[in-house]
Amino acid sequence: MITRRQFTRFGAAAAVAAAVQPADSLLADWTHRIQGSSALPGSFGDVAGARSLRAHAWRHGLIFGSAVIVRNVEDDPEFAELIAEQCVIVVPTSELKWVALRPAPDKYDFSRPDFLLAFAQSHRMLMRGHTLCWHNSVPEWIQSPANRPHTRQIFIDHITTVCKHYAGRLHSWDVVNEAILPADGQPGGLRKSFWYEQIGPDYIELAFRTARAADPHARLTYNDYGVEYDSEEDAERRSLILEMLRKLQKNNVPLDAVGIQSHLKAVQHYAFGKGLADYIEAIRQMGLDVYLTELDVNEDDIATNDPAERDAIIARTYTDYLRVALANRAVKLVLTWDLSDRFTWLNNGPTHHRKQPNRPQRSLPFDRNYRPKQAFFALRDSFDRRRR
Ligand code: G3I
Repeated sequence: MITRRQFTRFGAAAAVAAAVQPADSLLADWTHRIQGSSALPGSFGDVAGARSLRAHAWRHGLIFGSAVIVRNVEDDPEFAELIAEQCVIVVPTSELKWVALRPAPDKYDFSRPDFLLAFAQSHRMLMRGHTLCWHNSVPEWIQSPANRPHTRQIFIDHITTVCKHYAGRLHSWDVVNEAILPADGQPGGLRKSFWYEQIGPDYIELAFRTARAADPHARLTYNDYGVEYDSEEDAERRSLILEMLRKLQKNNVPLDAVGIQSHLKAVQHYAFGKGLADYIEAIRQMGLDVYLTELDVNEDDIATNDPAERDAIIARTYTDYLRVALANRAVKLVLTWDLSDRFTWLNNGPTHHRKQPNRPQRSLPFDRNYRPKQAFFALRDSFDRRRR
């Protein structure tokens, strides 16, 4: 096993405080760095030769990054160093959701996402936003009988305030997250969320228009799960999402990209194949980019307890998926949902849903001690196999 010290190329990351730079100029800065046309300052020195996922991705036309729980970056310098070494972009896993940002109607708490943005900028990295609208993050106060009738205005005010707060400084926003749930029986397969019920189906369009008006620079993304496999269920979700996207475009709703969450399973009857490839191609033909936004591998169903055998199965899952997904040039961005097994969300939640409740998952490219695993090399090699 490679130790982290042997692996790390940069040693202690020099936190060179950079002047605040808009997201667009940071992207241009990265392009310049990777082309290696001049002596490069700071710890990013030899980016093209670095053994980081971000360098391998960038050389093949991809932005690589990770979601992080902001507190972990604040509290753990070694983890912060890993993130700065491996990523071009970061996204806070939950600190930009309504429940975290809006403890009370008259209170916005930007402290944690602001910290992450400052961290990203001091390392000349990008940040994206997740998410302005999600059925699973609706504060209790907005659901009170007094506030409920004002949901539409509160929704507009929230998106406007949050997008303006970060205007010009974020790469992209997941504007609407997980709006499709066919089981809810609504027209177009729309999920019967709080937003849907209070505002109506046009809440989606309203969210995108409001976000664009408040921040014309961020790439606006629709993000969803359950589209990765060649199963009937995923096929239905893909066709409903495409139908929704076409409708948005017909109505001139501002939209730049579609997020495929990419929460994969190590043991799965269905394959990654034509369904996924055709979906990505359909999005490309609509003139939209594709972002793989929450990549990880749930390995709860693997029967063996042997870590090396499990790691090999997990790595193969990443490889099989990325072979299909990265074949299309519309895919511009890959983010894992955290970088280290120490923090994966797959270890949280009710253990009765788990087949192996006492076995911590090895889902991500780095282990609990921040050492690269087979999954790291699967990602790296998948990036390298991509045509330039
Ligand atoms: O930060 C607080 C901490 O201060 C507090 O001490 C602790 C006590 O429980 O909670 C911490 O916040 C938790 C946060 O994760 C960070 O660990 C929240 O309670 C917890 O609800 C939150 O869960 C997140 C979940 O979304 C709900 O927001 C997960 O980290 C995050 O991985 C998950 O992400 C979702 C995507 O948004 C959408 N797609 C699915 C994905 C996985 O469920």
